[in-house]
Parts: sequence; structure tokens; C-alpha cells
Amino acid sequence: MSREDFGEEGARPFAFFRAGARAEPGVANKPILVLEDVYKYFRVDQPTLRGVNLTVERGEFVFVTGPSGAGKSTLLQLIYRKHTVDDGRILFSGRDIARLTERSIPYLRRNLGIVFQDFKIIGHWTVFENVAIALEILSMPRRLVRARVAEALERVGLSGRGDALTDTLSGGEQQRVAVARAIVTEPALILADEPTGNLDPHLAIDVLTLFEEINATGTTVLFATHDHSLIAKRDHRLVSIDEGRVVESRRGLTTWAGGLHSVGG
Ligand SMILES: Nc1ncnc2c1ncn2[C@@H]1O[C@H](COP(=O)(O)OP(=O)(O)OP(=O)(O)O)[C@@H](O)[C@H]1O
Ligand SMILES: [Mg+2]
Repeated sequence: MSREDFGEEGARPFAFFRAGARAEPGVANKPILVLEDVYKYFRVDQPTLRGVNLTVERGEFVFVTGPSGAGKSTLLQLIYRKHTVDDGRILFSGRDIARLTERSIPYLRRNLGIVFQDFKIIGHWTVFENVAIALEILSMPRRLVRARVAEALERVGLSGRGDALTDTLSGGEQQRVAVARAIVTEPALILADEPTGNLDPHLAIDVLTLFEEINATGTTVLFATHDHSLIAKRDHRLVSIDEGRVVESRRGLTTWAGGLHSVGG
């Protein structure tokens, strides 16, 4: 069985989620993500999200910003179905994720790579084990797991570090392990929630650059951060959560006048 065989087999029920060449005809030109008038209430009197509209095209890199408590994490959590929307729709590759049954949520998640501020890796496991787990839960054969983990570690700059205990790695290296775990399944979309929040500014740029390299291979990236020094260094599309709605703040350098002011959208 080749790696491609497995990828297709493993993803078959949700093959339309795959990026690029693996997508079904007609799916490749649909936006990867559409949020339509999304509401989320944690308290009846105070919705966290109140009518979010957002379209993300395949291959985009999007910063999601907004002050603490604005709802950045909530937005990402709705996309990976940690929570369900109270009103509105979220379409992932054209499919309404609210309509997924509990049984099909794992198929959604295997098409997503998720990276958190606090890494969420297991310190007493090796680097290899922390990355391999993402494939082992898909029952992938061991030989294939070894090859794909090695490739993911190479992509994040940790070649040859597979046997190290993750506890012994620096913070920046630990986040690279988490990124390797997120990309090893070759997801179409990466959701990163303050992935540089625990890193010093120098390492934060390194990790941002890593996400950009992953994006350059065609993977769509949603990168939530309130770190404006990081946002200012790059010309990526920027959306802000403001009073429960998403406001287009900047769409690359083409509509952003050299960083002097932002353009509403
Ligand atoms: N599971 C939950 N139960 C109740 N309230 C919640 C829950 N998750 C989020 N909230 C509330 O929703 C609002 C938005 O929280 P969220 O964590 O999405 O903000 P954030 O923009 O990610 O903030 P930060 O920058 O601090 O991470 C907050 O008022 C928070 O208290
Ligand atoms: Mg948050």
C-alpha cells in the first residue's frame, strides 16, 4: 500500500475536504471556509459572536486578531466543532459542519491541523511519539508512520530529533513538535490559536515563518493572535473581531497603504 493509497482511503468519507489535487472536481474552487451570520452565546444576554461573516479561500494566510475576550479562540473552536454555533452556518469545503454527526467529527478533524498557545504535547513522550500519535489514531501502518513523521520533523527543522524527550526541548522547539503533529496528517486547513503566545519575540517570528512555509505549500492557515508587533511585520490578510463581528482590517499590502492606516472591508 502506498502513502497515497492510504491518504485516499483514510480520507474517503470526507475526500472533498482535501486540498489541491486530491480535492474532488468542483470542490477545489469553493472557498475552504465560509462563516455565514454566525452567533455563539455562552450567556443568553451577551453573545460572544453576533453575526460573524467570513470567507477564506484555499491557500490564504489570515491573521485573526482582537482584544482578549473578543472571541478569537471561540471562532476557531467553532470550526473544529469543540462548540456548535447557536445560529448561522459554517461551511468547510462547502459542507455545513453543524450537520455533521458526532461520528463524523473525527473526519472533519483529520482535515484540520490545530496548534495551541501551550503546545499541548506530552513532555515524557519522545518527539517522534508526539507526532506519530496523530497518524496512529488513524491506524496507519508503522512503516508509513515512520516515514511521514520523519518528513514532518524535517519540515519543522527537527530532523534527527525524534528520540529526544520533548521535556528536554526549548519552548520554540516544543512548539515545532506541535506544528509537526498538526501537519503530519496533511490537513487542508491549519487553525493556530496564539501559537506564539508563550514564545519570546525572536522565537515568535521563527514560528510565524514556519507557518508561512507551510502555507506556501498550499495549506490554508488561520492564525489567531493579539500580538500586533507580529501582525505589523507581515502583509497577510488581517481580520479583527470587534463587538462580536468580524471586520476586515487589511487585505495584504495591495489595500494596506504601507501600514500607515488600515482599510475597512
Ligand atoms: N466555554 C466557555 N464557557 C463560557 N464562556 C466562554 C467559554 N469560552 C469562551 N467564553 C467567553 O467568550 C468570550 C470570548 O472568549 P475567547 O476565549 O474566545 O476570547 P479570545 O479572543 O480568544 O481571548 P484571549 O486573547 O484572551 O485568548 C469571553 O467572554 C469568554 O469568557
Ligand atoms: Mg484565545
